Amino acid sequence: MKGSSSLTTPAFFNLHGKDEVGSTNDEVRLLAEQGAQDGTVVWALRQSAGRGRQGRTWVSPEGNLYFSILLRPTVSIAEAANLSFVASLALADTFRQFAPEIKLSLKWPNDVLIDSKKISGVLLESKANSSGILEYLIMGIGVNLKHYPDDARYPATSLFEKNKENIPSPSIMLEAFLNSFDPWYKLWNKDGFSSVRTAWLDQAHGLGEKIYVRLPGETLSGRFITIDRDGALDLDLDNGKQRLITAGDVFFATS
Ligand code: BTN
Repeated sequence: MKGSSSLTTPAFFNLHGKDEVGSTNDEVRLLAEQGAQDGTVVWALRQSAGRGRQGRTWVSPEGNLYFSILLRPTVSIAEAANLSFVASLALADTFRQFAPEIKLSLKWPNDVLIDSKKISGVLLESKANSSGILEYLIMGIGVNLKHYPDDARYPATSLFEKNKENIPSPSIMLEAFLNSFDPWYKLWNKDGFSSVRTAWLDQAHGLGEKIYVRLPGETLSGRFITIDRDGALDLDLDNGKQRLITAGDVFFATS
């Protein structure tokens, strides 16, 4: 793809730009299986088979940003799940650069909301060895710059809808993201989850409030207390019991 080599990014990243792929996560998986290094990034202008969380489709027309990063930290698969919070913090910093006045918050586990609507999504896919140690993690990120789905399960928006004057191109947004991600990733590598957890909680949407969590086969309702030391959502159920949730879709009583 023209222009992808001219981006200024930290030396850690090795960027491959493509016009169209099925899914950038699949491209990165192929490279990972061939031994590609930590920090390999595949970015595409379009995806013909973009994937969202929980098996959903991520519609990927030209104009938005789609990319995946290969990461190989030596951690357990459970610790690697922290990286979804690292991604959200870096995305939040990036959005603030382009629209400083927007009201931004973070939705568990890894969505960024602008005025309570979803503007980006993160899909983590990983491979571990037989002892549960990570071999690699693929961090796939989609950012709604120009387009957003109007039939999404959760209300969505785009940067264009918020700031028609001056939205960044996908390449400028990618460059800004990689520069924001680098220090958060280094902090997590050095200190573990603790500082990332605190920074995430500072921007969490609905903390202390009533929420609904949709799980396969049931919907829970209760008060969102915190996230625990591993990033699980700590919910005080309406029936007085407490529940730690590691995967599910959160909805808010008021947005
Ligand atoms: C979500 O459901 O919120 C996660 C969406 C993740 C979409 C991105 S776009 C780049 C990468 N390639 C994919 O197929 N999915 C992720």
